[in-house]
Amino acid sequence: MIKAAGVMGFPISHSLSPRLHGYWIKKYGLEATYVAWEVPPERLAAKLKNLPDLLGENGELFRGTNLTIPLKEKALEIVDIVEEDARAIGAINTVVVEGDGLLIGRNTDGIGFIDSLAEKIDVADFKGKTALVLGAGGAAKAIVFALIKMGFAKILITNRTRTRAEELADHLTDGTEVLDWDERESVLSQVSLVVNTTSLGMKGQPALEMSLQGLKAGAVVTDIVYTPLKTGLLLEAEKNGFVAVDGLGMLLHQAKAGFEAWFGVRPEVDADLREFVLQGLADK
Ligand code: ATR
Repeated sequence: MIKAAGVMGFPISHSLSPRLHGYWIKKYGLEATYVAWEVPPERLAAKLKNLPDLLGENGELFRGTNLTIPLKEKALEIVDIVEEDARAIGAINTVVVEGDGLLIGRNTDGIGFIDSLAEKIDVADFKGKTALVLGAGGAAKAIVFALIKMGFAKILITNRTRTRAEELADHLTDGTEVLDWDERESVLSQVSLVVNTTSLGMKGQPALEMSLQGLKAGAVVTDIVYTPLKTGLLLEAEKNGFVAVDGLGMLLHQAKAGFEAWFGVRPEVDADLREFVLQGLADK
């Protein structure tokens, strides 16, 4: 039986997931397909619940789906079983259809973030250290969760709208502290990892105003924005001699667990995949 999976979002045309999974399907010679669905939030429950019975154009059986903005939180309420990490984050990005038709909800964004950093540095070195998270939206939840998993002793969260940072810190309490947005540069001397989870610095968005002058020696700077790949923040990091990790890695690494669960092959993230996905980005 040909296996299939997809990605649901609203809109969906921007998604690089079909290109990414399509690359792996070809690379590993699988008889499988991966499709994109534009699903308005109010149609999500019907669409997800129908997944186990859905047949693709060539009779494929759907093994699951990815979820992207703005469906990740809502999907958590719909699936039959929510894995522990996803429950803690409060959102799911991956659904796996079990043999009995049950829908399992997972969140692989946190582990994708960790795996992306681990490509460049030894993440075990962060144990007991301090991180600074810029932003408190959907992406920040999975990242703060990942930082707790990595063993950071202190996670400073700052957001333009302070109440959102407070809500996030109340939800994921281990070591989290909230700072005013204007204080973001004043704490840099104690920070070993800076993460931008805001949309600032993205193509078409305002720049992220942030000097890294006072940042602790040997610190790492990462951005979840990947258009452009080298954001102003990452350029500033490199200019000052810090390790910079771009946002594309998280997108690539979060996809591994779903692919493995649906199609039975643990895929690899390598330079060729990166290049191929980047080309897709240039075409968008
Ligand atoms: P996502 O779910 O992708 O994280 P989001 O929930 O809209 O998207 O979050 C976007 C983040 O970028 C938020 O932290 C947002 O700050 P607010 O909570 O104050 O809206 C941040 N952001 C967007 N535009 C910003 C700006 N001009 N200045 C500062 N922060 C900004």
